[in-house]
Parts: sequence; structure tokens; C-alpha cells
Amino acid sequence: MPWSKIVGGSSRLGELLEELATGLEQGLLPAGIFNDPEIFEREKEKIFSRSWIFLAHTSEIPSPGDYVLRYILDNAFIVVRGEDGQVRAFLDMCRHRGMRVCRAEAGNASHFRCPFHGWTYRNDGALVGVPAEREAFGEGFSKADWSLLPIPKLEEFDGLLFGNLSPEAPSLKEWLGDASWYLELVTKRSHAGLEVLGPPQRFVVNTDWKLALETFISDSYHTLMTHRSLIELGIAPRDAKYAMYGEQIHIPGKGHGTMVVGGPPGAKLPPFWGYPEEMMERAKTSYPTRTHWEVAKETRIFLITLFPNFSLHNPIRKPDHLYPKPVPMLTFRVWHPLGPGRIEVVSWGLVEKDAPEWFKEKALHSYMRFFGSSGTFEQDDTEIWSHVARNAGSTLGRRVLFNYQMGRGVAPDPNWPGPGVAYPINFTDENLRNFYRRYLELMLD
Ligand code: FES
Ligand SMILES: [Fe+2]
Repeated sequence: MPWSKIVGGSSRLGELLEELATGLEQGLLPAGIFNDPEIFEREKEKIFSRSWIFLAHTSEIPSPGDYVLRYILDNAFIVVRGEDGQVRAFLDMCRHRGMRVCRAEAGNASHFRCPFHGWTYRNDGALVGVPAEREAFGEGFSKADWSLLPIPKLEEFDGLLFGNLSPEAPSLKEWLGDASWYLELVTKRSHAGLEVLGPPQRFVVNTDWKLALETFISDSYHTLMTHRSLIELGIAPRDAKYAMYGEQIHIPGKGHGTMVVGGPPGAKLPPFWGYPEEMMERAKTSYPTRTHWEVAKETRIFLITLFPNFSLHNPIRKPDHLYPKPVPMLTFRVWHPLGPGRIEVVSWGLVEKDAPEWFKEKALHSYMRFFGSSGTFEQDDTEIWSHVARNAGSTLGRRVLFNYQMGRGVAPDPNWPGPGVAYPINFTDENLRNFYRRYLELMLD
């Protein structure tokens, strides 16, 4: 093929977005969108400054005074439960001259005292102490005018706390749309809800946030090759095409996507992800609809990615060669953008609050073995992602068009019982084409 056929225009922002707009429906995406300073600046303004971004799970801050420090772009927020039990989030920036008032990643505090001049805030954000207040600021000074700044928007869905930098943002419910139905497959598996298995792991990867989430919204196809060694070791199912089976579903107009993976036809797999019998029984009554149960009981691997950068993965895995049975594990992750071609992965392990202790231990073991900083699957993936981003940012590589054509022409599954548009096979880029439609809409807005 002549070079001109596989090369788009220059990498200037307008041309890159134009190339994306022109090529998307044909499944052709310019590599340059994955590691480009101008694209990243626009993503900060057009995507991350007005999208709902996952901050924390409520089980991380169960008691009054519990807090965690979390980020949206370069903004640090103290997510804290007040003495009244209410969860709030404040910009970690002293109202006096801008010093950080919270110096730890997590903890418990009734107050936050600024180390610069000593202004002190209660954990509901109110300024309650100003050294030498009267002598320094006189009678007219009102502490009530100088509380910590709350995040413009904070909302919760079943224990998942999301923040938004835009006061004009639609509600979280509206933002999620039909994706909430699929989230409930995990959040409502038990009446007791989820709890985190310790603080999140964090690690930096030289890649683009979009490349990372692609794996968790659509790219089952990579398991054949990227994780081949794990298949050969018997850690992943023997059928190399195991991730092909099941349904890939997207929520049109929202950018969200999910993969509900079953097993190869005729395969003998434990029912209901391999959760203990008692948890399976409880799920029958905790799910909001019968259809949730019907879908859940056929599922062995489940992923969902919420636009723009939150993913959840709930696969069944054998924790090690000594343990005879596969154990499901659950991870949440945020692909936190640090710069062009650079992210911090924030990765949580979670489990149902009312799961038996032995299971919690095995689920944690399974999570740490496969995902997070020590995870074998994670290391397979991050190594690849970093080279793709490096190529995408290179002088010649940035002008190449990538192939997102898998599954074009496959008709949606008319019999799928859940919401969204479902395809009867996971080897398709349909969720990605939907994701980039939404991405483009916001980037061009
Ligand atoms: S900057 Fe915080 S008290 Fe001065
Ligand atoms: Fe992977």
C-alpha cells in the first residue's frame, strides 16, 4: 500500500480531530491522538473538566473524620466524611494563600490545619481557627466567608463517589444512563454492598489514558496474544478464544461500554463467576430485576468502562497452582491522566461486605496476583501500552492510521435482554467506535 494511503495529515490539533471525524465510521483512527501535547490540553478542558470522574468508594471512609486524597487532573480533593456522617469533597487548598491543608493520602481527622500560617478547618470545610484573628484581620473579618472550596459537584451511585469540575454538569444518573443497569450487576450482587480490600495501589505507566481503557471497554482480542503465557500456564481458560464468547454492549450517546463474557459452548465452568453458593443465593434476592440475575448467572468475566476513565473488571481466575478452584476477583481502576502519553493507574480490589472471610482472602490474593502493580495480566498489558504510546508520539508514527474495523457489519443481537446495543461476540471494536464518537463530540464542542 502506498505510504500516502496509510498516512493521515499532519499532527496539528485541528487536523488530528478532523482525521478522527473522517475516519471513525470507517474504523480508522489517527495514532497522533494518543500521545500529543495539544490533544492532551484540549482533553483537560473538554473532557476532564466536565465529566464525572470516580473519586472513591464509600467503604474507604466508613467513619466520621475518615478521609482520602483524590485527584481530578491536577486538582487535589479531600474526600471526607464529616461528624454528621455526610461525605463531602474539598479542594485541598488553603483559602489564605493556597497551601495544602491535608498532607496524607488517607487518615482520620476532625480538623485540617494549614502548616503555613495555621488557619484551621473543620472536616465539614468550615474555617474555625485563624491565629491572632482580631489583631491580624480586625473586626470586619468573617471566617464564614473563607471555608474550604467544595468540589463543584459530588454524587454517589451505590457507594461509588464521583466528582465533577463543572457546576453545569448533568446529574450522575443522567450521565450514567443505561450503564447503571450493568453497574448494578456488581454493586447489587449482595444487599450488603461492596467494601475495598485496603487502599488502592498506584503506579505510573507511560501511556495514554485512552489506550489503557480500550482494553477494559472492548479489546478482548488482545488476550490471545498478550496473555498467551497465562493461557499456557493454565491460569486463564485453556480455550485461547475464551474472551470472544459473550456479548459486547454499548450505551449510545454516552460513550460507556461493557463486556459480558460467558464461556465457550459446552465448557464446564463454575456457576455465577464461581462465587460461593451462599452469595449466589443472596444475589437472587438482592438484584433489582430477574433479568439482572439471568444475565449474571451466565457470566464468567465482566468488564465495564464508564466514560471517560473509570473501569471495573470482574473475572474468574485460579489464584495459584495450589488452590484447586477458580476464584472471582473484582477491581476498580481510574486511568488518571498525568500528561500526554503518561498516566497513573489507581487500582482498587473489592469484595462483597458479607462474603465469608476465606473468600475475601482468596479474592484479594487473586486480585494481587493478576492485577495491580504485582499483577501478571497488568504487567503484560502495561508493557504493551507503553510501546504503543511511544510510537503514537513519534514523528512519523503519529501520522499513521490505526485499525478499529473489527466487527464492522455484524448486526446487533435482537434478543439481548439488557439495555444498550449488544453484539453477540466480543471480537469487535463496536464499543470503541461508540466511545470515540462521544469523545469526538466533546472534543469538538
Ligand atoms: S496559606 Fe494557609 S494559613 Fe496561610
Ligand atoms: Fe489484558
